Amino acid sequence: MEKIHALRAFLDKAHSVYHAVALVQEALEAAGYACLSEADAWELKAGGKYYLIRNGSAILAFRVPKDTPKGFLITASHADRPCFKVKENGVLAGAYTRLAVERYGGALLAPWLDRPLSVAGRVLVETERGIESRLVDVDRDLLLMPNVAIHMNRSANEGYKWNPATDTIPLLGNKETANFWKELERLAGGKILGHDLYLYLRQKASVWGMENEFISAQAIDDLECVWGCLQGFLHAQETANIPVLCIFDSEEVGSSSYQGAASDMLESAIARICTALGVDKSRQLAGSFLISADNAHAQHPNHPEYADPANAPVMNGGVVIKFNANQRYTTDGLSCAIFRKICEKANVPVQTYCNRADIAGGSTLGNVSLSQVAVPSVDIGLAQLAMHSCYETAGVKDAAYLEAAITAYYSAELALLGGGAVSVN
Ligand code: CO
Repeated sequence: MEKIHALRAFLDKAHSVYHAVALVQEALEAAGYACLSEADAWELKAGGKYYLIRNGSAILAFRVPKDTPKGFLITASHADRPCFKVKENGVLAGAYTRLAVERYGGALLAPWLDRPLSVAGRVLVETERGIESRLVDVDRDLLLMPNVAIHMNRSANEGYKWNPATDTIPLLGNKETANFWKELERLAGGKILGHDLYLYLRQKASVWGMENEFISAQAIDDLECVWGCLQGFLHAQETANIPVLCIFDSEEVGSSSYQGAASDMLESAIARICTALGVDKSRQLAGSFLISADNAHAQHPNHPEYADPANAPVMNGGVVIKFNANQRYTTDGLSCAIFRKICEKANVPVQTYCNRADIAGGSTLGNVSLSQVAVPSVDIGLAQLAMHSCYETAGVKDAAYLEAAITAYYSAELALLGGGAVSVN
């Protein structure tokens, strides 16, 4: 239960991708990790603990083993979530004042309506030192996207098509309200030259159910995995491997950004670590492994027909290994066997997920990361409902299972024995 309270506190503070990354940074700093700049030369010490940040919205941490490293044990997860981004010149005047927003990623639209919302993200302000990035969070009930009454929209319960140019434009105030940017500048403490601001739901995380078995919150996809990977990374025992924690941005919009999984962030860090430690990159990669951790669909209580009949995970049933014959998930027999073995040793139950053969499903970070750094890889996640709703639901036990599995992974000694055999100790 303690673990779920810590996750809940994290979810309640991570109001944007920038805030999520800042919270991870805080945890790393508290554990003695040193910040590296990609612009500096890296001098890495045996036993050293380091991290780097790109764009304030992606973070990569690693530890240097005391002895010659045998390879990288990597996890990848993402800190962004489908939501709405505030447009430039975001205030719309009319009979009321509204905030102009556009969709970020593939959100389910209907859950956003009739709920108090607010704005968080980062702004670029002018200072004496130059342009500075600052986190801002309005942190009060500020906006709401009002539904149209059923009397005016009789088809609302019959498969209504939500239009993001009209239906999901939030109300900010009465006609005379024009203080949005003034308030933002006050919070930021300077003149705003640029911004990346997103809407978030004001509703806090909730633990609920007959036995308190469920947790609902915004951005469970994928902050639940971010949290599990971070905890596992921090609590693992030292081995001869280099543990690497990667938390990317931009997964919900295809990963192609400076700070996304399709960027050179991981590849560049690996190359620089190898150079700094004087080890051969190709040989290190040959002894490496990647876990791509992004949530999976739980079988829906009212719609079991959407699940594959034989591979339909449930909430609180354990960590989910995801399979797709066309490699949208990177898991294959070998990576599945390695991950299963790790979970078995950690007493963590595993479940399996495949799409129903006639449902396409989504893709995730694994195959994108592999286009930069080619190593054996498994796609996993935790079973959840209502993926890409602004209020998603998962199992309380599963967060602890993931933490235990990732701790065991980073604590493991993986060795390639030739002929395709691998030992997991
Ligand atoms: Co995701």
